[in-house]
Amino acid sequence: MRKTLSSLRKMYRSGEKIACLTAYDAGFAHWVAEAGVDVILVGDSLGMVVQGHATTLPVTLDEVVYHTQMVQRVNRTAWCIADLPFMEDVDLATTLKAAGRLMKEGGANMVKLEGGKRILDRVQAMAEIGIPVCCHLGLLPQSVEKHGYKVQGRDEETAVRILKEALELQSAGADMLVLECIPAALAEQITRELNIPVIGIGAGADTSGQVLVLHDILGITLGKPPSFSKNYLQESASIQEALSSYVQDVKSGAFPADCHLIA
Ligand code: KIV
Ligand code: NA
Repeated sequence: MRKTLSSLRKMYRSGEKIACLTAYDAGFAHWVAEAGVDVILVGDSLGMVVQGHATTLPVTLDEVVYHTQMVQRVNRTAWCIADLPFMEDVDLATTLKAAGRLMKEGGANMVKLEGGKRILDRVQAMAEIGIPVCCHLGLLPQSVEKHGYKVQGRDEETAVRILKEALELQSAGADMLVLECIPAALAEQITRELNIPVIGIGAGADTSGQVLVLHDILGITLGKPPSFSKNYLQESASIQEALSSYVQDVKSGAFPADCHLIA
């Protein structure tokens, strides 16, 4: 049976860690779902790990729709989140039109978008329509040309802003939140203060779940993999075994270990 928002909330309330992983095509989506991953993210990270771009900025809405279709053609068990690409969230009408395409044409179960205060009206409108919304705070890859790939929220002012935005997004109707590259203590505090699942990447162990990029955990990312990730293929005999180990480690709390924490 496919994971639903309600079954994910049940996991969240019972304290079971939510295991998320990206996938961008049918072959991988099949094995990722088979490994017991709860949530598949069709991330715009596909621009980097699939298309070979330096950032996620060139990824188009048509492309995310296309990759979501491939994933959803075979995925029978995982909840599927599709990323809203760069500039598809510039105003309310553009956002709703794009989110609608990810759901209708792509077959996504939920739409993820980056940012806080700036997008509150869009989150509220999507929630009212009945589109499940995942928000994304901390390091925002779509803003990388301005802010760089840097840990966010080390200073008090930014930390306070991120917590405030998380609460505002929840009030606006967000159903889930991804926190990327923020100090573990801040992620723990946000997870504690919110009552929706918080999924961390480079955000320590004390969130409701973890998400990683598929290509990073299989060691096929071009260039240097992020320090908060782990190559699971290195200690596995097959891709299937690597995927299962990742899920097991998220569920048991073995991942992230201290060596995956950002200083
Ligand atoms: O695009 C992506 O893969 C993401 C995750 C890193 C959270 O947004
Ligand atoms: Na993304």
